[in-house]
Amino acid sequence: MKKLVAVLAAGLSFAAVASVQAQTFPDRNITVVVPFAAGGPTDTVTRLVAEAMSKDLGQQVIVENVGGAGGTLGAGRVADADPDGYTLLLHHIGMATSATLYRKLSYDTLNAFDYIGLVTEVPMTLVARKDLEPTDLKSLVEYAKANKDTVTVANAGIGAASHLCGMMFMSAIDTSLVTVPYKGTGPAMTDLLGGQVDIMCDQTTNTTKQIQGGTIKAYAVTTPERLKVLPDVPTAAEGGLNNFDVSIWHGLYAPKGTPADVVDRLSKSLQVALADKNVIDRFAELGTIPSPAADATPAALKAKLEGEIARWKPVIEAAGQYAD
Ligand code: MLT
Repeated sequence: MKKLVAVLAAGLSFAAVASVQAQTFPDRNITVVVPFAAGGPTDTVTRLVAEAMSKDLGQQVIVENVGGAGGTLGAGRVADADPDGYTLLLHHIGMATSATLYRKLSYDTLNAFDYIGLVTEVPMTLVARKDLEPTDLKSLVEYAKANKDTVTVANAGIGAASHLCGMMFMSAIDTSLVTVPYKGTGPAMTDLLGGQVDIMCDQTTNTTKQIQGGTIKAYAVTTPERLKVLPDVPTAAEGGLNNFDVSIWHGLYAPKGTPADVVDRLSKSLQVALADKNVIDRFAELGTIPSPAADATPAALKAKLEGEIARWKPVIEAAGQYAD
């Protein structure tokens, strides 16, 4: 009997401690890991959301960039973090594609994380260094086919959105080009601007201002309709590339085992952040919109991730190209 009482007492004290933790959460800074280098699209989205969440939570939400291996190093860092709500991950479609692309991941994608909510869905653009000869998508395709052994395509590593979009482009033109991986498309953009790499398929959150400023060339957007922020950039379909419609959803995650009250508080804070005027306005300037509150929830992100893993698994297996 004494043992039963001791076990019950221990259980109650654990629950009591967890409840107190949740009631006082957050009582210190929170870190959001961006699994790509600073200055890229994921970093841009995260810093805007983190600033707004800091205001809501009353604690600093700090961004830490952990790049490498197409985002899987950063994801692994958070999978191994204490499940206390103070270490989060903001990642995108790469969370789903990497589950198939990487056969030796350090984490189990569907069992290593708790879900906070969806954040945004970002269109992509096919861009190039500004002095690349082709003047439109049709002539770019001809140029790429004629120079397939020298045309370089930047991406942020296998599993990155830029990798996925670059692969879709090469598949659409039935031509393999020379790929150049970076720790993020922030550093890749630097080389594109400097002319060290030829083309890239990257999110509008990283390319809009450069395209508007004329410092890079834009051949297409990967959306069914042209974008308000880039009205002169044709869609891929207008340029003769059909089935090239891809946009990059982003989600906010915590390590598995984070207390439910803490997950709920973080999801509510994410919803507040996505309704923040500065977030809405800056996202709009960069060609995207925040996810609606109903999608900034654990259930919505869980369903999205599970659905996207199921969607991309057969596509990746058919291509037979894995990261390891
Ligand atoms: C990618 O998947 O290409 C990443 O979004 C690049 C980045 O955020 O740096």
